[in-house]
Amino acid sequence: MTAAMTSVEALLATRREGRGMPRDFYLAAGLYEAEVRNVWHGGWLFAGFAFEVPNAGDFLTFAVDTTSVLVIRGDDGIVRAFHNVCRHRGTQLCRTDQGQLRAIVCPYHSWTYGRNGELVACHGMHDGVDKAALGLKALHVEVVADLIYVSLAETPIAFGGLRERFAAAGAPQGFDRARLAKTIDYEVDANWKLVWENNRECYHCTARHPQYVKSNFDIHDEEHASDAVRREITAALARIEAKWGLPGDAVAHPKGGLATFPDPDRGVWYTSNRTALARGFETESMDGKRVAPLMGDYGDTDVGVLRMRSLPNFWLHASCDHAVVTRMLPAGMRKTRMRSYWLVHRHAREGEDYDLDRLLPFWNLTNEQDWDICKWQQKGVESIGYAPGPLSQRKEYNVDAFIRWYVKTMRG
Ligand code: FES
Ligand SMILES: [Fe+2]
Repeated sequence: MTAAMTSVEALLATRREGRGMPRDFYLAAGLYEAEVRNVWHGGWLFAGFAFEVPNAGDFLTFAVDTTSVLVIRGDDGIVRAFHNVCRHRGTQLCRTDQGQLRAIVCPYHSWTYGRNGELVACHGMHDGVDKAALGLKALHVEVVADLIYVSLAETPIAFGGLRERFAAAGAPQGFDRARLAKTIDYEVDANWKLVWENNRECYHCTARHPQYVKSNFDIHDEEHASDAVRREITAALARIEAKWGLPGDAVAHPKGGLATFPDPDRGVWYTSNRTALARGFETESMDGKRVAPLMGDYGDTDVGVLRMRSLPNFWLHASCDHAVVTRMLPAGMRKTRMRSYWLVHRHAREGEDYDLDRLLPFWNLTNEQDWDICKWQQKGVESIGYAPGPLSQRKEYNVDAFIRWYVKTMRG
């Protein structure tokens, strides 16, 4: 065991059960690099949507810390992923977020790769280059419900469970019949773990998300909900489960909409659930009214909200008429890049069927509220005055679960 590994292990061991993460989890030298290796290079990462690359040669790129990944559809229709790095002297190949290419040509000395990653030309080398051995380095790819997942691991963890769950849960939403209405990129001045910790509880929602708490039941835990609210949730869930629920997919009242996730003891790193919206809310919009045509198989608005998530970088909330998907990518110990995607039915036309000024505000506002919290929490946890306080067993059980997942994943 190297000295660096020993110190990471020693650091992980300082976490006390039932408390938040110790200060050094957010600033120890070398820890972020270990996170990139163990969490980010080890897991399955949501990269984007298959419908973003509909034709041969369509590509998208994304960066996991300093590692750029190229996702491109080949002439055979298959979506592949490669390290976005030239096999000659390492120049980054594609420099934009997305685009279309006849071939992948390195801007430095023009080595040329096919859309399937094979090296097809390296003019002027004249010294018996083994082209077959110098194709782009391929990465593992899976596509489910039009979600593209990529793993940078040589031998990734099993994907089959996620495939099965997301295919079934996502089917009625019709991701394969969706299109992008808008993406918004956010740069959050906080460690990626703080963003997940924030995502895993709604204890802060009453104070920070006045619009969100009107629409969802997440803040109503068993002890605090009135009988009237309990009856309302139970009735809404029963309706939704009867129509759209998978077995065990509708979350019962005691935990509001917050499914228990993750579950490191059972190896659960992905899940989905469908939960009810509050009375008067057909969708997650500012006024609760529908903001786009119905998606997927839905025949009416009474579908609640489908939620799906996978560690380390994906979550979504999908209503009857639109879905908002969020992708997280680490960009340093104190910087996290977030992208939210607003999806609508692929036949929906902007200006006629929906307007961005009605579609975007609900989640754009919620996002901005959360990123602001994370930024200020990052500042706080870096202070020598910070010591991790207790987590609420009723409100923050998922934060505790996330921390336990993190520690377990870091230990490998
Ligand atoms: S570095 Fe790409 S062709 Fe030389
Ligand atoms: Fe929040």
